Amino acid sequence: MRQNAVSRRGLERRVSPEKQIILSGNRPTGRLHLGNYTGALENWVALQPLYRCFFMVADWHVLTTDYEHTDAIADHTREMVTDWISAGLDPAESVIFVQSHVKEHAELNLILAMLISAARLERNPTLKEQVRDLELEGGEGVTFGHLGYPVLQAADILMYRAHVVPVGEDQLPHIEITRELARKFNRLFGEVFPVPDGKLTKFARFPGLDGKRMSKSLGNTIDLADTPEAIQQKIQTAFTDPERKRRSDPGRPEVCLIYTYWNKFSPSTSPEIYEGCTTAKLGCVECKQRVGRAIADYLAPLREKRRALEARPGAVDEVIRTGDEKARRAAGATMDLVRERMHIG
Ligand code: TRP
Repeated sequence: MRQNAVSRRGLERRVSPEKQIILSGNRPTGRLHLGNYTGALENWVALQPLYRCFFMVADWHVLTTDYEHTDAIADHTREMVTDWISAGLDPAESVIFVQSHVKEHAELNLILAMLISAARLERNPTLKEQVRDLELEGGEGVTFGHLGYPVLQAADILMYRAHVVPVGEDQLPHIEITRELARKFNRLFGEVFPVPDGKLTKFARFPGLDGKRMSKSLGNTIDLADTPEAIQQKIQTAFTDPERKRRSDPGRPEVCLIYTYWNKFSPSTSPEIYEGCTTAKLGCVECKQRVGRAIADYLAPLREKRRALEARPGAVDEVIRTGDEKARRAAGATMDLVRERMHIG
């Protein structure tokens, strides 16, 4: 009860003009890993008290590259939102919602699609990358929806009249397209949309257990929901300095992935590890066991929150329902303005 009163007061504070708006989102791919955490989520949590925040599950965006497999999307959505809340996104502070539950996104997407040329979208570097990576050339080619991926993303952002969009570097081309669309709409129909800025996350390339970028598809992840035992098991398979062959060889922390983990998850221990590794006083097996414990300790509060959430069946669905409603209200207001300015709809 008391918490409710506090959050209601918070809401009033948030709509004050000095608080800028953030929108960001992720496609639902299921459980999140440490790369997702350091690359985005951790940053969102830090920004949460400073901005009025909207965090969106981009489930329609999944269809742009994978429209045939829709069965897992609902579960993946729930798992991702569970990780979001466990990591510190607070539904009383931030609006947590699902894109496809706010149909206004489809309407704004349609309108914005009229304001951009197909040639501009064909030049989008992320599209070119995906055509290469997903080998679309050989198949049926790029769908209309896939070409329009950044237009839908622009609709997501402009819908909440966001000022700031925290994203990874790979998303900057989409922010640029969003900015172009905002300017074009404003020029044609009057100032409706702030021209949003992308805000880059520092720790964008977090290494996985094999030293490559941590990624679910590469199977090299430590997940936020992993138990301490699972973390220990995984960490023992991690790559280390390949030139440290024997226990008595000194190691090179600066090329060792485990040292990157130390720097992230227990920086105060790093100097001691550096010393132990370079003088061969500390062996890799022990170093890994210790870093495994450090990671598990770091994730302990998340695990605790997850347990509390999972003890209340339906709690996550309830968060989403409430967030959807708040998002719909904001989206409704924007679309009223858009329709009025365009004299249509
Ligand atoms: N394209 C983003 C990604 O793949 C997800 C996304 C969809 C998004 N809509 C957005 C990110 C709006 C920021 C703002 O990660």
